[in-house]
Order: sequence, then C-alpha cells, then structure tokens
Amino acid sequence: MPDDGRYLSGPRHVAIIMDGNGRWAERRGRPRLFGHHAGARRVREVVEACPDLGVKYLTIFAFSTENWKRTQIEVAGLMSLFRSYIKREAMALKEKNVRVRFIGDRPGLDHKLQAQMDELEAMTEHCDSVNLTIALNYGGRDEVARATKRLAQDVAAGRLDPEAIDEETLPRYLDTRVLPDPDLVIRTSGEARISNFLLWQSAYAEYEFIDTLWPDFTRDVFAGLVGNYAGRDRRFGGVKA
Ligand code: FPP
Repeated sequence: MPDDGRYLSGPRHVAIIMDGNGRWAERRGRPRLFGHHAGARRVREVVEACPDLGVKYLTIFAFSTENWKRTQIEVAGLMSLFRSYIKREAMALKEKNVRVRFIGDRPGLDHKLQAQMDELEAMTEHCDSVNLTIALNYGGRDEVARATKRLAQDVAAGRLDPEAIDEETLPRYLDTRVLPDPDLVIRTSGEARISNFLLWQSAYAEYEFIDTLWPDFTRDVFAGLVGNYAGRDRRFGGVKA
C-alpha cells in the first residue's frame, strides 16, 4: 500500500492525458495535425519543468489503441510526428538526464518507429533525473490482457503457483512494472473521462480534469496543479492519522 504520509508533499508520479490538440487547431482554422505539432512542443516544456516541481515520474498518453480509428491522414501524421520527435529530442533528453521508456503494444507499431523507441530507451537507460514514460499504442485493457496472457503462460509452465496470486502479482506483468503508481492523473480539454489510461495503476490516484487544451498547457498551469495536489488529503481508503 502507498505511504499515507505522502499527501502532504507533491506528486512523485504525474500521468497526463494530453487532449484537445484537434480543437485547438480547429479554432485557428488549421488542420488537426497543426494542433498535434503544437502539443508536441508542450511536451518538452512539461518534461523540463519536472525537476523543479519535484516530479520524478511523468507518463504521457500519446496514442491509444483506439486512436487507429482516426482518419488515415491523421494516423500517418501522428506516426510521422512521433518519429520526428524522437529524432529531434533524443540528444536533448539524454543531456537533460531524462530516462525515456515506452509502454503499449509495441509490435503493433511500424518497425522503424519501434527501432527508434528501442534506441532511445537504450540511450537514456543510465539517466536518472526524470523518468518520462510515453504511452504509444497503449490501452489499459489491452495491457491487462497482455499481462494476463504472460501470467497464464507462467502458470502453465509451472513457474507460477495460482494459489500464490495476489494483488502484487499482476503489476509485475504490466508494461509499467518498474514504475510506481501515478499519484496524480491530469486530463486536459474539459473531458472528464479516463479513456482506458492506466486502469489498474490509477486505483488510488487523484484526478484533475481541466478545461485548458493541451497546446495551451504551460509550465505555470502544470505548477498550479502540482501545488493543488500537495494540499489534498489522500487516505487510500483508510482514515487520516
Ligand atoms: C488528443 O487530442 C491528442 C492525441 C490523440 C495525440 C497526443 C499527441 C501529442 C500531444 C503529440 C505529441 C506527443 C509526443 C510524445 C511527441 P485530440 O486530437 O483528441 O483533440 P480533440 O479532442 O480536440 O479532437
């Protein structure tokens, strides 16, 4: 269980559903991809703000398993944006000591993109300032299904005793197995949904649903939400000490 005393300090792990790029662009009479490019620029600002705000883990939802239903133009544009983001930001991330990880169903992605993702993870594996996790082709239910498959394989092979399965077992099979659970989940753009993001991991997270569209999400907006969190009382189902 998480440590009850933590509610007085800031969030160690913040997860963000970056929503509203399309509407931001449409309001300017521009194509949706224009909004995604503006959104990608905000990612840098938010990652750079983490050390000052005491945020050690940042997890961002870049592409969901449901996002393939968008038009082929938008999907292709997003994939190309992810490739150019990795190419452009890799050195800066390493220099800023940011460790990058990806979660999601990797085999479902283009081979070139997968190779870039592997390379960026390897390049930054010794970095320890901020842990940036990018959810790409990620869905919470898909993650639990993939984890369950591996768990069942271990049971079938005699490596795992079904009687020994408890709440600590499944997380060891999730994509996020090396990460702590998120303390704070933020969703931008006024929608109050979690859209299949970190379903298991967010059981005790605090949520912030804010109207700001992702491309307008500045460092100051981020700092404000981190500050709000520090004033909250997290009891994890128990009572305050
Ligand atoms: C949701 O906005 C956003 C996405 C589906 C993509 C998120 C991607 C980025 C912020 C771009 C870059 C990320 C990285 C890691 C480089 P929406 O299109 O659903 O907006 P809408 O609800 O206004 O239509």
